[in-house]
Amino acid sequence: MHLRKLVKYGIFVVMLVIGFCFTGIARAYDFPPPNQQVAIAQQTSDLMFNTLFAALTQEFDETTAANVEQGKQSISLIFNDQNKDMRLVGTYGPLEQSDRPRDSFEIQANALALAGQAYTSVQKVDNKWYYRRSIPLSNFRAECALCHVNFPVGPTSTQVGALMLRVPITR
Ligand code: HEC
Repeated sequence: MHLRKLVKYGIFVVMLVIGFCFTGIARAYDFPPPNQQVAIAQQTSDLMFNTLFAALTQEFDETTAANVEQGKQSISLIFNDQNKDMRLVGTYGPLEQSDRPRDSFEIQANALALAGQAYTSVQKVDNKWYYRRSIPLSNFRAECALCHVNFPVGPTSTQVGALMLRVPITR
């Protein structure tokens, strides 16, 4: 009887220790990623931004009054709504409702973008750490208003929204 009690107690203690270990691991996993990994994600976001900017510039160069609808469809397909890693966001009569800010990062980033300011943040989304970044966009080309009929005929320095990117941070 005494032995059985002792064994039960032993099992209880072992379970307790295992429990503590797992909580510890889970907590450690919650720590923000180290700066070095954040810097790598930031470099990826630079590459991604340059690629997207080049693609958009190509599209704007080819936009004429005659192909506006095709151009809009092309940009919509590139910025597929399923892709949460790159989004065009704005509140200035957006072309699609899905282009409105979706979460607290986007709300804050959009507000700053309308004042011409970039914004970055390291944060967890759906249990994954991300480097998030917003690049403000102005009505800097004449072609903007061909597709966005609510934008003033440009180029003007009016701030209209932002390009928002997010890069998963690997550990
Ligand atoms: C060829 C058409 C076209 C041109 C030119 C164009 N856009 Fe857009 N833009 C779109 C489409 C289509 C979307 C919606 C993309 C999506 O599906 O998320 C969009 C979305 C946006 C958004 C997100 C909010 C909104 O208004 O929908 C911003 C901000 C934006 N564009 C800024 C600009 C700026 C600034 C320029 C000029 C430098 C520009 N666009 C030129 C087609 C265009």
